[in-house]
Amino acid sequence: MNDIPAPIGMLAELTHRCPLSCPYCSNPVELDARQGELSTAEWLRVFDEAKALGVLQVHLSGGEPGLRRDLEEIVARCAEHGIYTNLITSGVQIDEARLARLGDAGLDHVQLSIQDVEIGPADEVAGMKGAHLRKMAFARHVREQGFPLTVNLVVHRGNIARLGRAIDLAAEMGAKRLEVAHVQYYGWAFVNRASLMPEWPQVEEALKVTAEAQARLKGRMVIDSVTPDYYARRPKACMGGWGSRALNVTPAGKVLPCHAAETIPGLEFWTVRDHSLADIWANAPAFNAFRGTDWIEEPCSSCEIKASCRGGCRCQALAIAGRAEAADPACEKSAYHEVLRDMAREDAVQRGHPYRYRTMKTPTRDPEPVG
Ligand code: FES
Repeated sequence: MNDIPAPIGMLAELTHRCPLSCPYCSNPVELDARQGELSTAEWLRVFDEAKALGVLQVHLSGGEPGLRRDLEEIVARCAEHGIYTNLITSGVQIDEARLARLGDAGLDHVQLSIQDVEIGPADEVAGMKGAHLRKMAFARHVREQGFPLTVNLVVHRGNIARLGRAIDLAAEMGAKRLEVAHVQYYGWAFVNRASLMPEWPQVEEALKVTAEAQARLKGRMVIDSVTPDYYARRPKACMGGWGSRALNVTPAGKVLPCHAAETIPGLEFWTVRDHSLADIWANAPAFNAFRGTDWIEEPCSSCEIKASCRGGCRCQALAIAGRAEAADPACEKSAYHEVLRDMAREDAVQRGHPYRYRTMKTPTRDPEPVG
């Protein structure tokens, strides 16, 4: 393949079906239906092609990947290729015996989401009674069967005050790593921002609590956390740079540079049903649209950090500034930085908005750009 370096990671969204319906789900608002999902044979070919392309690790995700009956077969094919497998799961679908079968197939790592430290609010956000206790039982099986465990906690207004206790819970669950993931406002989270957005003093306190826990739990559990974009001063290199380190295959086989890329109008996505993964990585128009730094406009093109932030997030630029080519509004050099801050401040004081839960049915109204 020409001089484009191979991707390191691949997110395989095996299905969008999920027993939970979290209102901040990172899946698109329009979800792929079961009838359109890739078959077992198609997925196995995708993993063969991922190996040939040079992919080193695969994140088996969803929706809930446990809803695919062929998950063991998929894990086994990746293991055969020496690809590191990370199962990203809600933990409510996979029982002890199935986890053992996945281990026998060669599964390397488990990443489990939790919603909160308290049962009531955790189940409320998940949209499923009993979810939290099932997750705790699943974590026990993960630990007993010797898998390394990462816990992912999405932080929002409804649970931010209990972050310290949630961090301690993750440590008790035996997690080696905790992702403190402040909500990213795309897709479902964008629709729900009036009920999810925390106020700045809460975020400030959460960052302090996290820093204290990072020091206290050093050597026992690694805690990953970054300042949420709405309150940041500089952007992050989203996806490690567009078309640079990772790709995302949807349940129906569309290959995306990031999970929210389909929100950008005019991009042409190729699917694994029509092209090989290597062809898509090198030549698909969507991957080349924002690859490298040549496309970057002022004020970013002359900025000293453009090689590290790589332009930040295109999907956020579109959602806030109305143009995917614009500077990421998370950056204080963006003309839309204050718009982003004002949105956050306004959303953070909203009350009385019930969650709009993730559902397979298309909502009547999609999120609208505010720029
Ligand atoms: Fe698409 Fe950041 S989520 S570039």
